[in-house]
Amino acid sequence: MPATPPMPNVTFQEPAQPAEGAVLLLTGEGPELSAMGKALDEALGGQLTRAAKAAEFEGKPGKSLEVLAPGNGDIARVFLLGVGEIEAEDENAWIKLGGEIAGAGLPGEGDLTVLAELGADSVTPEQAAAIGAGIRLRSYGFEKYKTKKNGKKPAKKKARSVKILVGDSKVAKKAYARSNAIVSGVTLARDLVNEPANALGPEEFAAEAQKLEELGVTVTVLDEAAMKKEGMNALLAVGQGSGRPSRLVTMEWKGVKKKSAPVCFIGKGVVFDTGGISIKPAAGMEDMKGDMGGAAAVIGAMKALATRKAKANVVGIMGLVENMPDGLAQRPGDIVTAMSGQTIEVINTDAEGRLVLADALTYAQKMFKPAAIVDLATLTGAIIVALGHQNAGVFSNEDAFAAKIVEAGKKTGDLAWHMPLSSEYDKLIDSRFADMKNTGGRWAGAVTAAQFLHRFVENGTTWAHMDVAGTAFSSPANELNQGWASGYGVRLLDRLVADHYEG
Ligand code: BES
Ligand code: MN
Ligand code: ZN
Repeated sequence: MPATPPMPNVTFQEPAQPAEGAVLLLTGEGPELSAMGKALDEALGGQLTRAAKAAEFEGKPGKSLEVLAPGNGDIARVFLLGVGEIEAEDENAWIKLGGEIAGAGLPGEGDLTVLAELGADSVTPEQAAAIGAGIRLRSYGFEKYKTKKNGKKPAKKKARSVKILVGDSKVAKKAYARSNAIVSGVTLARDLVNEPANALGPEEFAAEAQKLEELGVTVTVLDEAAMKKEGMNALLAVGQGSGRPSRLVTMEWKGVKKKSAPVCFIGKGVVFDTGGISIKPAAGMEDMKGDMGGAAAVIGAMKALATRKAKANVVGIMGLVENMPDGLAQRPGDIVTAMSGQTIEVINTDAEGRLVLADALTYAQKMFKPAAIVDLATLTGAIIVALGHQNAGVFSNEDAFAAKIVEAGKKTGDLAWHMPLSSEYDKLIDSRFADMKNTGGRWAGAVTAAQFLHRFVENGTTWAHMDVAGTAFSSPANELNQGWASGYGVRLLDRLVADHYEG
């Protein structure tokens, strides 16, 4: 499932005077041109400074100016992009600058040369690599199902090329290989979330995971018979109304030889959530093709980690099901025995994600004795009411672990906010007939959902739950994403591993 149109190929070269095509330079306020920019302006007979003056372009951050066909040679256009102060160590700020560069310099056709100097300052090879990653993230699109554009069949586009001119280009290339591994994970997550559910059922999703074997990931797929044997009745109950069988996928990345407890990521993979018998209203239901956004983040993170050969042991688990109303679907009032042995009264079949995660959590602890677990799920509308589309909610049985996740989010722009857990909320899911019920009433819906999951975490296991219902899709367009699916979580999980579980 390749991203369409293709994202540009980014290469790095030592600085040299560009003589053709499209060129983009970064200016400080003034506009203040860089050394390479000044040399280019001179070669073009001063047309860049004259155009800036005529257009009253002052190099204000985020503002850009396009100068067409300056000079007498083969330079087709020059873009000036105003850039404010950027902190040297703030990698995400450089990635976002890459996004702005793509936004300003890539509409239209042809290849682009980027002069990586910022006003009077040079750009380090690592910063240039981050710019390259940002250019690709911003250039993502999902147009595979569009057969017409403006009434015409769109031409098969070939990938464009962006050349970044920077000193120490070899170092930049190496750093870029790492950032681009992460981009490939984000792209996979976006593709899967954007894909409609008729094309992406549990089996098709599992097949996507199997493709990671090429990267050295060990992939195991449990079918319904195998899950039945394990006692995963809560997960299976969600899928029992669907014509498409459920799957549980395990992806193991062993980046270090020595045996050590892995960190484990678990994703909710509801390929479509109708609500089941507790059916959802029609308006907006199409968005529920994205109810596998947690699983998409997990497979995306596994792809990123394996591609960049992370020195850590990481396991990704995805519960893949479809929640449909049907003659065989589960009913409100049904009581199921989860793999942990605990019984659940199903009050609302639309609170299905927690049923899937309950068994995935038990399975993860039984099979891998993980050092820590992070589950990601588009779990509740309530988290969107609380935090909007700007932050995911983080719940954890260890404040210090939640803090690590929040920190990884700040560094990558996958923002997350620490939310509470406590026994007072836990009471709200006690059931009259079973050990617990799957909804906690009107208030604090995101918290009671997290309390439910907490009941499946064994004593001593470090665990965090991320409710990504507001961030996996429908977030506002920004420097790095103009589409519907965001790829939220991939960069955060990659950073969490890099900062706390690698070497
Ligand atoms: N997948 C939904 C949550 C959701 C809503 C995700 C909007 C993304 C956007 C989840 O399965 C659900 O339906 N949750 C219910 C729980 C309720 C029945 C306790 C909800 O939030 O309304
Ligand atoms: Mn639901
Ligand atoms: Zn759901």
